Amino acid sequence: MKTTLPAPGPDALGMSAVQEDPGRFRVLTGDRPTGRLHLGHYFGTLHNRVRLQNLGVETYVIIADYQVLTDRDVADNLTGYVEELVLDYLAIGVDPARSTIFAHSAVPALNQLLLPFLSLVSTAELGRNPTVKDEIARSRQSSVSGLMFTYPVHQAADILFCKANLVPVGQDQLPHLELTRTIARRFNDRYGAGTAVFPQPRALLSDAPLLLGTDGTKMSKSRGNAITLAAGADETARLIKGAKTDSERHITYDPATRPEVSSLLLLAALCQNRTPRQVAAGIGSGGAAALKRTVTDAVNEYLAPIRARRAQYARDRAYLRDVLREGNDRARAVADTTLAEVRAAMNSHY
Ligand code: TRP
Repeated sequence: MKTTLPAPGPDALGMSAVQEDPGRFRVLTGDRPTGRLHLGHYFGTLHNRVRLQNLGVETYVIIADYQVLTDRDVADNLTGYVEELVLDYLAIGVDPARSTIFAHSAVPALNQLLLPFLSLVSTAELGRNPTVKDEIARSRQSSVSGLMFTYPVHQAADILFCKANLVPVGQDQLPHLELTRTIARRFNDRYGAGTAVFPQPRALLSDAPLLLGTDGTKMSKSRGNAITLAAGADETARLIKGAKTDSERHITYDPATRPEVSSLLLLAALCQNRTPRQVAAGIGSGGAAALKRTVTDAVNEYLAPIRARRAQYARDRAYLRDVLREGNDRARAVADTTLAEVRAAMNSHY
């Protein structure tokens, strides 16, 4: 069963609003460490992060290593997954001197916010979260853990510990962001004594349309249809060669009737900074084989410098750990300040 996700709502922002005044925003965003990031992540949110950072927006990037405890397989190999994620971040241009990369398990004061936040939401509200419902349905586990049910509240702590007011997320994360706004509002109403302790953060929606995986469904690691940033040029060629297309020789961009062909055109277009129609016109009646050659070349060319940087950082594990240690330290200082404010607001200063 596919539950319906809420529409973005009037509070969502686009990139142009940020460009006008980058100094007004503090961004928090991040990922679960579940394996290598892929092109769907990249064009969906990752490259926006780098753009935000480069615009001078203060940016925090969270590695949600407690959130993945809902998934047993990942939990058994956390260190490896966390390091892979840091590598992907560095490779795409997240700069640890300007952006704070950290793991939420390393920031005690962030996690302590979970407790007052839990008091502000009802179990009925938690039970209605469409993204959590979907995850429960897909997990095929015989029972649902308390963490699965409450991780969106933890995510509110991820966002609010640094008082972020802008969160670049995909559509599936909108219910969590809505809950974060609710928690911020209720906390302020209940404890703020007329002042806002927390901002009500807004979503920053990506302008990139959804990329399909090689089987024509949403690109996702768990479906085995994804091209990762770290994949080699040959592996990329093989994956794209096996991608689903259709039997129409003339290549046209028509997402409604030719979703697979159109998604491949879109991928090449994103890599080449062209429109999908321009890419289609260049292929004409060359058929699926020519389309796949074009896409393979575009992806491999685009990813070459990213992959080279990734390989270079992968040889320096000590540096990866330094990046995380420094990020964790910075996040801890921010979280301590916020928690002190929260305790003062709640009159729990003893
Ligand atoms: N739930 C997010 C995901 O699955 C990861 C995440 C955890 C996150 N905490 C966050 C994203 C805070 C944005 C803000 O991708």
